[in-house]
Amino acid sequence: MTEKIETNNRIISIAIDGPSAAGKSTLAKKIAKYLNYTYIDTGAMYRCVALNAKQNNIDFQDQENVIKLLDNIDIRLDNGKVFLNNVEVTNTIRTNELSMGASLVSQYHDVRLKMVSLQQKMAQTQNVVMDGRDIGTYVLPKADVKIFLIANVHQRADRRYKENLERNIESDKENILQDLIKRDYQDVHRDFAPLKKADDAIEVDTSNLSIEETFKTVLNIILNKISK
Ligand code: DC
Repeated sequence: MTEKIETNNRIISIAIDGPSAAGKSTLAKKIAKYLNYTYIDTGAMYRCVALNAKQNNIDFQDQENVIKLLDNIDIRLDNGKVFLNNVEVTNTIRTNELSMGASLVSQYHDVRLKMVSLQQKMAQTQNVVMDGRDIGTYVLPKADVKIFLIANVHQRADRRYKENLERNIESDKENILQDLIKRDYQDVHRDFAPLKKADDAIEVDTSNLSIEETFKTVLNIILNKISK
């Protein structure tokens, strides 16, 4: 079902931020579908930069050479699919290696500037639900609604483990937990546009909520805010 909300032709943006595996993308996709807005997965864009580095045998830590790639990188998000230089990489970018790689390359100032500029352009012309780490604080500081989604790290590791099982991806729960703790640390402690709740964001703790409960809670917040 899709809902049309009267917004007097204003372009609406909804920012959903939070740590890894808090359920942002599942929620953002559902909300976007329901409202008929465009879903923008900003994490996928940083994952593409990491993948491009790997394709060119460049170490994720090699800032200088990662930055050199930016001139020849074309990232396109199209209807839930992700394209890097015109090749579909939607599933390729989901490995643990590229999760960690994305967290590393996203620390580089030039990488962020380029991704942020693409993200801002996408939000200028269409209604968007954008998920990431810095959307409410840095990319779209004037977003109409800002949600900060959190969940305790053990719940997040558990969910990621089950998700991997469903996708037939072999994984180890303890490794997932350690990776999440490491990524949280990197994402929160980087100098430029770190993971942080915007002052005007509404925090939703999904530790004890199902996907459907999270969806209903967040949808109510959004409908209240944008129909005003
Ligand atoms: O949301 P994700 O797990 O696909 O994101 C992968 C990494 O990309 C994450 O660890 C940090 C980085 N990222 C970011 O720095 N800023 C964003 N807006 C989105 C993701």
